[in-house]
Amino acid sequence: MGKTNVFVFFSLSYYDPISDDGRCFGKTDILVCGRKRGLAVERLRIWRIGLLISLVMILLAGCSGDPTLSVLDPKGSAAKIQLNLIYWSLGLMTVVFVIVITIFVYVLVRYRKRKGQDRMPEQVHGSTKLEIIWTVIPIAALIALAIPTVQYTFDLAEAPPAEETVIIDVTGYQFWWEFKYPQYGITTAQEVHIPVGKKILFRVHGKDVLHSFWVPSLGGKVDVVPGRVNTVILDAKEAGVYQGKCAELCGSGHALMDFKVFAKNQADFDKWKDQMKQPAPTVATTSSEANGEKIFQQNCIGCHAGVNPNIQGPNLNKFATRTTIAGVLPHNDENLKIWLRNPQSVKPGTLMPKIDYLNKDELNDLIKYLDSRK
Ligand code: CUA
Repeated sequence: MGKTNVFVFFSLSYYDPISDDGRCFGKTDILVCGRKRGLAVERLRIWRIGLLISLVMILLAGCSGDPTLSVLDPKGSAAKIQLNLIYWSLGLMTVVFVIVITIFVYVLVRYRKRKGQDRMPEQVHGSTKLEIIWTVIPIAALIALAIPTVQYTFDLAEAPPAEETVIIDVTGYQFWWEFKYPQYGITTAQEVHIPVGKKILFRVHGKDVLHSFWVPSLGGKVDVVPGRVNTVILDAKEAGVYQGKCAELCGSGHALMDFKVFAKNQADFDKWKDQMKQPAPTVATTSSEANGEKIFQQNCIGCHAGVNPNIQGPNLNKFATRTTIAGVLPHNDENLKIWLRNPQSVKPGTLMPKIDYLNKDELNDLIKYLDSRK
């Protein structure tokens, strides 16, 4: 290890290489010991604190990013209510924290050991008054937290009239999402479209392992449990694209198990709905699209048609209208090639096999065919 590495190691490990009497531990060649001990310790401490702060800043920088991934900027009723709860509990806990720390510091200073005082102070046990006070205060704080929590829980679970609700069956797979609209006979994947202002009843299904359905801008997480249907009612107050995430560690592709929610005004939503219900346009029999269709039938349909219950890939109906590939790559031909040739390099753990055996023309034809599905 070089000087710097040794220094960083000590700085971050909370290990003070100088003993209180000024001798050096080990063979660290970076420290000035003996006469200059005070200065060295002082410098080391400043560096250590500086380094820790920098490290924390770097880590916290990862917390900014996609604004639609923040619960602090709610765009739906459920998210707004939940943010109120966050603020309420944070406020209450801050009050408790400040009171406790104030008493703690006051007692530390007021009753500290003073010079010339070598007698044990008087010990007090079993003050009934104090016992009652510090039992009642936490109970009161918990009740203050429980009342709005229970109230909001019931409010959020209340189902709106069925005719005003859009029902969406969500299924979480390793590592993608399927969205079915039983009222409209639509099946899609990775991108879910909803009308602004309407209540959406998400019925959340699981097939393989535990996942968690989460759209931070619209509301809290819902567990995806195989063999169970959990429900959540969400809405969007304004049009926009909101990022969705899997919030349960579910395997190597977990961090990339993304989806998008497109909240649209009713007219745009109806347009999307109508487009989704249109049959796919037929392709000219001589074109490369037709060849692409043939390649698709031979290589892809087994998983992507939804006929094989054991191997299920996303439904690719209207695939060309989607903004992403596999929920994570921007949709363009270049990325589609990368995905087809080596899906694992994009999303580790995906069940999608490599389509690296097609020649250049075949791959282009397949992409042309996929691009025609809109
Ligand atoms: Cu699915 Cu994490």
